[in-house]
Amino acid sequence: MKIDGKQMRTIWVEADGASVGIIDQTELPHRFVVRRLATVEDMSRAIKTMQVRGAPLIGAVAAYGVWLALRADASDQALESAYAMLIAARPTAINLKWALDEMVAAARNRPRAERAEAAMRRAGEIADEDVAINESIGRHGAKIIEDIADRKKGECVNVLTHCNAGFLATVDWGTATAPIYMAHDKGVSLQVFVDETRPRNQGASLTAWELGHHGVPHTVIADNTGGHLMQHKLVDLVIVGTDRVTAQGDVCNKIGTYLKALAAHDNDVPFYVALPSPTIDFTVNDGLAEIPIEQRAPDEVTNMTGKTKDGRIETVRIVPDGSPVANYGFDVTPARLVTGLITERGVIAASRASLAQMFPERAEVRPKSNRKVT
Ligand code: MRU
Repeated sequence: MKIDGKQMRTIWVEADGASVGIIDQTELPHRFVVRRLATVEDMSRAIKTMQVRGAPLIGAVAAYGVWLALRADASDQALESAYAMLIAARPTAINLKWALDEMVAAARNRPRAERAEAAMRRAGEIADEDVAINESIGRHGAKIIEDIADRKKGECVNVLTHCNAGFLATVDWGTATAPIYMAHDKGVSLQVFVDETRPRNQGASLTAWELGHHGVPHTVIADNTGGHLMQHKLVDLVIVGTDRVTAQGDVCNKIGTYLKALAAHDNDVPFYVALPSPTIDFTVNDGLAEIPIEQRAPDEVTNMTGKTKDGRIETVRIVPDGSPVANYGFDVTPARLVTGLITERGVIAASRASLAQMFPERAEVRPKSNRKVT
């Protein structure tokens, strides 16, 4: 993506060769701030505080976190404690575990003197692979948008998306946004309804920001608006991202995704999930029973942060003092509500057979039934 004319990724190795740069997403949309992170503790904190977020980006950050840990200490113990620290940072997105397992495999069976370099190489590959995967998702997904544009004889295609499964949630392109960017760049007339995505407002703050920077027409809507728009035929398709897809095709994503899938189903609106293969968890079947759902701090619900008329950033409380709050970060959309999974290898049904056929090398893992997995 180009940010103010400059080609950028969301994570990079700094010129000193000893630290990592990130875009601090907690500062967006009102301030664009990049930060330099130099230790595994910095990386873990950045994931926890959501300076970086989105399943694929969390995976890449964890990978570079292992590299920074091994730069400081290449012992087995340091590798194990980096793994333990990073895996505990957030529980739902499986990309975190996937990336950490990849990093351990790259570093463990080597002499200590080679570990940091091997880890840096693998982290770089993980980042590059994410970009390539998202580009392919973009190509397959853009075809869906183009087909709808053809059916509508070039009239504007209306896409609805939830949360931020965009450039900022990945290393580049985004997953749900990659088809949108590609179709837009090819000249397809489209516009995006962006769910605000309470409580953290990833849609209003992040998706709107990046679509705006790329010149994609978009309209921010309150989370409760999608059903109404679908009833009035104002949405041609929904595309969302995901934090974990199970062997049977259940989709875990940002809280509120399930309600959009229900509304789409009731109104015959195609509901697509953009799915990079590292987000598939073949060790779990039943998403509702088995995926751990992150619960976050109440202040994300009680408070809102924004810009005042005179340009100051302020946080205000919108809930009565003392009212109890629940803050579930994710929900699970059953496979039956998903029209298709847009993967890097093509668009497939959300089913065990299709997933196993498309990704046989990953499907060899045997599912463990009915248990919570972290
Ligand atoms: O809590 P977040 O902001 O990390 O949640 C992000 C999402 O739910 C995204 O939709 C998902 O990670 C897919 S990102 C390509």
